[in-house]
Amino acid sequence: MGATAAAGSRLHRESRRCILRPFDPKRAQTVSHPQNEVSVVPAKPRFSLIELEPERNASFGKEVERGLTDSPKSIPCRFLYDERGSQLFERICETPEYYVTRAEHEILANRSEEIAQVFPSPITLAELGSGSSSKTRLLIEALLRRHGGLRYLPVDISRTMLEASSMDLIDRYDALEIRAIASEYRAGLRHVGAETDRSKLIVWLGSNVGNYGREEAARLLGNIRSAMASADRLLIGIDLRKDRATLESAYDDAQGITAEFSANLLSRINRDLGGHFDLTRFRHRAVYHEGEGHVEIGLVSLQRQRVAIDAIDLEIDLADGEAIHIENAFKYSPAEIEHLAALAGMEVERSWLDSRRRFSLNLFAPM
Ligand SMILES: C[S@@+](CC[C@H](N)C(=O)[O-])C[C@H]1O[C@@H](n2cnc3c(N)ncnc32)[C@H](O)[C@@H]1O
Repeated sequence: MGATAAAGSRLHRESRRCILRPFDPKRAQTVSHPQNEVSVVPAKPRFSLIELEPERNASFGKEVERGLTDSPKSIPCRFLYDERGSQLFERICETPEYYVTRAEHEILANRSEEIAQVFPSPITLAELGSGSSSKTRLLIEALLRRHGGLRYLPVDISRTMLEASSMDLIDRYDALEIRAIASEYRAGLRHVGAETDRSKLIVWLGSNVGNYGREEAARLLGNIRSAMASADRLLIGIDLRKDRATLESAYDDAQGITAEFSANLLSRINRDLGGHFDLTRFRHRAVYHEGEGHVEIGLVSLQRQRVAIDAIDLEIDLADGEAIHIENAFKYSPAEIEHLAALAGMEVERSWLDSRRRFSLNLFAPM
C-alpha cells in the first residue's frame, strides 16, 4: 500500500468526499482532570475535547490477552481504529464493493432537510462513532440552515480522527460549536445524556450497530434511549439483509484494502504491545452466515505457528487454518429493525431506503 503517515504525525488525507488537514498540537493544550478524564483546550474558540479513557493501551493489552487466550480466539473490533486503521476505513468507503457509505450518503443527501424540520431550536447533534464526519456534514448543513446555530457532540474512540475532523468542521462552519468526546460509546453517552438544555438528535451511522450481536445491540440502544428525552430522536443507519456475493465482496474488496484494515490489527499489536506477528502468515476472510444474517470477519492462520507478545508476556499457539475473529456485521430486515427498536423502548418513526434498496436510515423515537 501507499506510504503510511509518519509515526506520531496527525491525520492528513484527501478524498473526494472530505479534506482533513493535519491537527496542529500547537493549537491545543491538554488539561488533566480527576477520574481519568483529559480535556484538550484548543487555542480556538467553539471547540473542546475531552478524553474519557486516556489509558487505552493498558486496556488494549488486557483485551488482547483475554481474546487471544479464549476459544475461539478474537480481538474486539473497536481496536481496528487506531490512526492507520481510521485512514484505511476511509479508503474502504471509496471501494466499488463497499456500497454502505454511498447508499447512506444518498439517503442523507435527499432527506437531511426533512430531518432538520423535525426539531425545534436550539438543537444539539450528537454522533456515535463519528469518524471523519463526512456524511454528517449533510445534516450539519441542513440543521444550520434551519436553526442558525448548532452544538455538535461527536463521540469516537479514535482521538486522532476526532481532532482532525472537528478542526476541519470548526474552520468550515462559523455557527458550529463542537464538544468532542474521545471515548467508547457507553461512556460518551453519559455526557450526551447530560445535555438536557436543548432538544437532541443522536446519530449512529454506517451500520455500526451491526458490529454487535442482536441482543447486545438492543442493550446498547437501551443505553442510547436512556440518554434521550421524549422529544429527542435517534437517526440510525442499518444495513439490510441481501445476497451473499454482494455482502462478502463488500467486506473483502478486490484491491485488498479491507484485508489490510484487518491485518493492521496485528500490526498494532506488534507496534503497541511488542507483538511478533508475521502478517504474511495470515489471510483475511469474510463469510456470510445467511441464517444468522451476519458477515463474519477474521484473520486465518496459514500455518501452525507460535507468536509472542512481549508487553503482556504472552505466547499463543495457532493451528493451521485457525481463525482470529475480528468482527461481525449483522444485517437486518425491516421487521428485525422494528423489533430491535422495540427491545430498546423505541419505535421506528420514519424509515428511508436508498434507490437500490440496499440500506436503511431510520428515525427512532422513544416510546
Ligand atoms: C465503521 S466507522 C464509521 C464512521 C462513520 N460514522 C461512517 O459512517 O462512515 C466506525 C467509527 O466508530 C468508531 N468506533 C468503533 N467502535 C467504537 C466504540 N466502541 N466506541 C466509540 N467509537 C467507536 C471508530 O473509531 C470509527 O470512527
